[in-house]
Amino acid sequence: MTMAAAAADMALVKPISKFAGATPRRMSLIYNDNNNNKSGSFSRRSSSSRSMIRMMSTSAPTSGSGAPPRQSKKASKQGIKETLLTPRFYTTDFDEMETLFNTEINKNLNQAEFEALLQEFKTDYNQTHFVRNKDFKEAADKMQGPLRQIFVEFLERSCTAEFSGFLLYKELGRRLKKTNPVVAEIFSLMSRDEARHAGFLNKGLSDFNLALDLGFLTKARKYTFFKPKFIFYATYLSEKIGYWRYITIYRHLKANPEYQCYPIFKYFENWCQDENRHGDFFSALMKAQPQFLNDWKAKLWARFFCLSVYVTMYLNDCQRTAFYEGIGLNTKEFDMHVIIETNRTTARIFPAVLDVENPEFKMRLDRMVEINQKLIAVGESEDISLVKNLKRIPLIAALASELLATYLMKPIESGSVDIAEFEPQLVY
Ligand SMILES: [Fe+2]
Ligand SMILES: [Fe+2]
Repeated sequence: MTMAAAAADMALVKPISKFAGATPRRMSLIYNDNNNNKSGSFSRRSSSSRSMIRMMSTSAPTSGSGAPPRQSKKASKQGIKETLLTPRFYTTDFDEMETLFNTEINKNLNQAEFEALLQEFKTDYNQTHFVRNKDFKEAADKMQGPLRQIFVEFLERSCTAEFSGFLLYKELGRRLKKTNPVVAEIFSLMSRDEARHAGFLNKGLSDFNLALDLGFLTKARKYTFFKPKFIFYATYLSEKIGYWRYITIYRHLKANPEYQCYPIFKYFENWCQDENRHGDFFSALMKAQPQFLNDWKAKLWARFFCLSVYVTMYLNDCQRTAFYEGIGLNTKEFDMHVIIETNRTTARIFPAVLDVENPEFKMRLDRMVEINQKLIAVGESEDISLVKNLKRIPLIAALASELLATYLMKPIESGSVDIAEFEPQLVY
């Protein structure tokens, strides 16, 4: 794929089609956290063929077993519309993963480092962290109007993103058990963390008398296929960006408690340490695969993934300024802070990153936001679909050219992997 095509493709952030729609086999959904029943458990529920994420209305946990409230019918119909920017589910080439983590084939695997990481994950620092209290429901009841709506959406999207990590890590833990039990166990323990996070967010939805049907989600969502190399780039970035998002919100609300409208944010400090550890694990994984870090192609892909992750977040958040303003943040300032910090962290491992601190970068992001707003307006207009599509063409072209120009900005050479050091071991 040429870079122009890649950038244009990314503009649409569309699933790489190979496995789209396929559901990973034998995915176990049953998750029970014995130490913390309050963080919830997942179970399968009946499916339907609707192409939306199904939301179920639940009666409030405290409201007893009476008939569901009248609005529940309406609530049960509520769904998140699948758009190009909704959090995705990933699948990968598990056979290639097995080869990559076979210690007999790959001599770069530093098993001592992975053993140490495994001990860290086994310590389970957050075993007793995710315990709810009565403040949640009270805070949710106080929230009314547009803020309530946007809060629900925040919980849904976060829950979906966390659950996506759970599914991928769980499957990797299962598939790598034979070839590399240490790496496999780390993946399983990371899926434990993500299950906890998703469960905690889903419990949050129950404060709003809703619940994401995660069993349905597993079956109905499209899975984006990424080759292992791209899974590493994408998940590393999403863990690190997740860390910076959570810690930034946490610190902001600690300094400005008047915006603390829902207690979930108080949990972000320890929570984000989980994400940080997950990111560090991917960093160790990439170091064990130097062929993914040390050539010109790796540099191009590293920049591509940075761009894709940063732009997606910026466009998403700029559509939801009410949420960030609701907790006292300036959306664009918050996002730029998160992007800059994530980029600095990422520069420690990726061979090249974008020059996000160059003012041109933000200027281009802001132009993309404007174009994206026009695209949304076209989608919401009364025009027939042919007219809509015709109107979209110049806008998509403009977005693609902005993306390409951003991609082609002079990058920052980075990373700590010494090419020469690894070269003799590359042949296997
Ligand atoms: Fe998480
Ligand atoms: Fe994570």
